[in-house]
Amino acid sequence: MPKSFYITTPIYYVNASPHIGHAYTTIVADVLARYHRMYGAETFFVTGTDEHGDKIAEAAQKAGVTPQEYADKISAQFRSLWPELSITNDYFIRTTDTNHIETVRNILQKVYDSGDIYFGSYGGNYCFGCERFLTEKEIVDNKCPEHGREPQYIEEKNYFFKMSKYQDWLIDYIKKHPDFIRPERYKNEVLAFLRDPLDDLCISRPKTRLQWGITLPFDENYVTYVWFDALINYITALNYPHGDKFKKFWPAAQHLIAKDILKPHGIYWPTMLKAAGIEPYRHLNVHGYWNSDQSKMSKSLGNVVRPLDLKDKYGLDAFRYFLLRDMVFGLDSNFSEEAFVKRLNSDLANDLGNLVSRTITMTIKYCDGKVPQSNYKKKDSVLHKAALKTVAEVEASFNDMSLHKALIAIWNFINVTNKYIVEKEPWTLGKDPANREKLIAIMYDLLMALQAIAILISPFMPQAAGKILQQIGVDESKKLTLASVYKENVLTAGNPLTRGESLFPRISRENNS
Ligand code: MSP
Repeated sequence: MPKSFYITTPIYYVNASPHIGHAYTTIVADVLARYHRMYGAETFFVTGTDEHGDKIAEAAQKAGVTPQEYADKISAQFRSLWPELSITNDYFIRTTDTNHIETVRNILQKVYDSGDIYFGSYGGNYCFGCERFLTEKEIVDNKCPEHGREPQYIEEKNYFFKMSKYQDWLIDYIKKHPDFIRPERYKNEVLAFLRDPLDDLCISRPKTRLQWGITLPFDENYVTYVWFDALINYITALNYPHGDKFKKFWPAAQHLIAKDILKPHGIYWPTMLKAAGIEPYRHLNVHGYWNSDQSKMSKSLGNVVRPLDLKDKYGLDAFRYFLLRDMVFGLDSNFSEEAFVKRLNSDLANDLGNLVSRTITMTIKYCDGKVPQSNYKKKDSVLHKAALKTVAEVEASFNDMSLHKALIAIWNFINVTNKYIVEKEPWTLGKDPANREKLIAIMYDLLMALQAIAILISPFMPQAAGKILQQIGVDESKKLTLASVYKENVLTAGNPLTRGESLFPRISRENNS
């Protein structure tokens, strides 16, 4: 486990309100941050908003306000959404922040001085949705496949970054670091792209066409292209080039994005870093797209899924669980409320909720309402063995970003524990006082299993984990890690057990309308 961990989400455009796609990436980042903190790694988690460029200027104009006013309003929506989803970001960056503007100008000057930026003329097909020129290959039926709009032919004098100069270096770097971009399908996509000669990157926009951007340090008549501005946020957040944050967290950076912005992150960003004399990031983790009722989410289709509506209706932990359990990292997934309710009822209400409530009820009954003295034999405990196996599986899943697999492993353990109760029949043993020792050992084992489950689910469902620990009398301030799973210094004999309200009430069809 690395000593320091730096995780970033894309900085989101402020031309639309947050939806389930933004929530997913940010929740995944949060799970990773919580997991690493649990291991004692010094963790820095950054999210924020991307506020310059055509798109925002256009949206502000439509709304009849200045771009700054517009950006302030939507950025505030993102900023206030995250605590509601229990997101524990350490920093929220805006590209209109003064320190970011300074960093962008600093990098531009550096690259300009080293001779990797030149002035030239370029004509090409520009997609305003992507905010970049598209190559011939990327245009399908005269349209940008991502935005369904015809690109516009634009020809103008601009500044260019010599990205082509770094093509061979990048191919070589990706081949030598096979998990630089993961999962593999996205690495292959980038390599496939790099089979054709790479164009230089147009990194400016004349102010005659766009004013809403960062002025180039070497030409007042131009603003910086929005991607060259936005990507630099990842080092602004670390106070580059000053202080020790940058030293501590770079290059151990892990970027998290969806497949829509693979090219800027997989090609522009590493070559920009190289040109600026900065080491490449450690991993680019790429996930798929959430669709809604089998189609792409869009305002016009009216199928945009809003995170707060779901949280208010079903609870935050259920929402987080569904997103993390249902998407195979790297592949697309379909959101349907019906599938959500099904999972909530089966995995959360039935498997986990019932396990917690019946274990607590029985232990209260058979152990005088308190955590009993440990008298179980560790070496004979099947639950102990299964819990340690689960920890190993969870660690492996986190290492290769398969968070859904971590949840599958945890649920296997929950099911083993449920089966254990059925096999041991504590209610039968409870009928004869001669079985008391045996019964207490079983109940203690079950409390240890709940302790393990609470720790294992805590990065995913922090609230439910806290409630379980509270019910088994574990002090919240106790520092728990995966190494505390099945450790006997967590439960305190004699602490009262409390029956809480149902962790995940079942949703019936009638009240799901
Ligand atoms: N501003 C750029 C990113 C700059 S990063 C230096 C941008 N912003 S965005 O608002 O369009 O956000 C795109 C990201 O939002 C995706 O990469 C993904 O993280 C998330 N998602 C938005 N819609 C999504 C889905 N439908 N499904 C999954 N995630 C998606 O691009």
